[in-house]
Amino acid sequence: MDKLLRSIRDITGQRLDPRHTAFAVADFLRANLPDPADLLTPEERRGDPGGYVSTVRHAEKDFSIVTVVWRPGQETVIHDHVAWCAFGVLSGNEHETLYRDMGDHLVEIGRTDNPPGDVSGFAPPGDIHKVVNTSAEIGVSLHVYGADLSLSGTSVRRVYDLPVRSLAASGPA
Ligand SMILES: [Fe+2]
Repeated sequence: MDKLLRSIRDITGQRLDPRHTAFAVADFLRANLPDPADLLTPEERRGDPGGYVSTVRHAEKDFSIVTVVWRPGQETVIHDHVAWCAFGVLSGNEHETLYRDMGDHLVEIGRTDNPPGDVSGFAPPGDIHKVVNTSAEIGVSLHVYGADLSLSGTSVRRVYDLPVRSLAASGPA
């Protein structure tokens, strides 16, 4: 964890734009993905039958570190984020669906599978998504968000409770 914190501080200290900060943190994570056992107790690695468990492990001015544990089939609501994010999948499969906000509805614009070892970085806007663990195993992922989550408590900017239509049915964009 110490090396992780030092390296992320080095990156955020460069004051790159949010996208390039997310990409640089993702590059570091890709080469330094921890083992779930280094981050989570055996109890935590069992997950919770009531829903996925998101835990803030560390928070400081420029970034926070969050672990997420998902049992098979557990999923988020459709949401976006307050800041850039880099995340790495340690176990399970994070299946992500991306959406575009059309005002009174959403359209699905893409799907991605993130198996163990996959690392991605992104920055708002354009990060409206839903994530589900589609594997038969417990999913564990490590997320770095570019915000002090000890202040807000959540990386979520907005939850989207809008109907989802197919691109063809939604008319010209
Ligand atoms: Fe998210």
